[in-house]
Amino acid sequence: MGILFIKTLVLVTCFVELFSCHHPGISLGGKEPRSQKTNFIIILADDIGWGDLGSNWGKRKDTPNLDKMAMEGMRFVDFHSAASTCSPSRASLLTGRLGLRNGVTHNFAATSVGGLPLNETTLAEVLKKAGYLTAAIGKWHLGHNGLHHPSFRGFDYYFGIPYSHDMGCTDTPGYNLPPCPACPRHSTTTSSHPRECHSEVALPLFENLTIIQQPVNLTSMATKYADKATQSVQRGHPFFLYLALAHMHVPLVMTEPPCNLSCQDPYGANLRQMDALVGQIKAEVDSIARENTFLWFT
Ligand SMILES: *[C@@H]1O[C@H](CO)[C@@H](O)[C@H](O)[C@H]1NC(C)=O
Ligand SMILES: *[C@@H]1O[C@H](CO)[C@@H](O)[C@H](O)[C@H]1NC(C)=O
Ligand SMILES: *[C@@H]1O[C@H](CO)[C@@H](O)[C@H](O)[C@H]1NC(C)=O
Ligand SMILES: *[C@@H]1O[C@H](CO)[C@@H](O)[C@H](O)[C@H]1NC(C)=O
Repeated sequence: MGILFIKTLVLVTCFVELFSCHHPGISLGGKEPRSQKTNFIIILADDIGWGDLGSNWGKRKDTPNLDKMAMEGMRFVDFHSAASTCSPSRASLLTGRLGLRNGVTHNFAATSVGGLPLNETTLAEVLKKAGYLTAAIGKWHLGHNGLHHPSFRGFDYYFGIPYSHDMGCTDTPGYNLPPCPACPRHSTTTSSHPRECHSEVALPLFENLTIIQQPVNLTSMATKYADKATQSVQRGHPFFLYLALAHMHVPLVMTEPPCNLSCQDPYGANLRQMDALVGQIKAEVDSIARENTFLWFT
């Protein structure tokens, strides 16, 4: 199960000319009015601490890209997540409604059949209707069966895992994750399984509705997220990208050995990896739609 850390209460936002597109009348003296709609990117970190960001706490120096965003953009220092747990905070972020109203007050499990109630409207559905290309990358955790899958909740494109990466097993186990060798067939009780075998569903990696890897290779996941995120913003305008990072949720997984530094400070190494991932996406967006994109990190 996911560890229930309090979600970060701080939102770092970077934007350029945010309102010019919605209010052409007040924008761009002399230039032609923009017809293009503003692109939106929401990057949601998981289980991150307030003091993890250098912009919040000077002793941390692991987040140069985010610190720069905080400096150039706007910081909302009293921005509250609707919940301290995975599914409810995501449900509220995407519906704009508190758990008591949207029905998601607890985390979904790997065995859950339900998800975010189907009568709720997601931000992606609203933007899709408005002509946006919509993509969700990363951890979903709002139901993974049938119509609860992100492909049916307003996202044209999906790449990621259905819930937290400590749910299920994988072949590159991290801090608290069991490996995946299957238990012998036809055995009914868990206690009769050998210690090394695992009866849980191996963590799947989805692209749209297809499982492309199972168990997911956690070591290469951050790189894949970065690649898919940068590809998704190249597909056209206007776009909405919802990137729900695995960072900083346990298990902390390093990209590449050797791990000289990362072995001494796995948390710091993962922070730097997350920061680099955000920096990579921001650089891509800056190169294709800098004047017209609203990028949030929360
Ligand atoms: C969806 O249905 C539930 C149960 O009837 C209700 O409480 C909730 O308000 C509905 N949501 C919307 C957006 O209408
Ligand atoms: C994912 O779905 C979208 C929308 O249907 C489609 O354009 C895209 O080609 C699909 N990608 C893959 C890899 O299946
Ligand atoms: C997982 O990905 C890493 C990094 O790309 C690679 O070195 C490793 O061989 C992969 N593991 C498996 C089991 O494929
Ligand atoms: C890590 O250790 C290896 C082997 O001792 C060494 O060659 C390499 O330079 C070290 N890398 C860093 C970043 O310190």
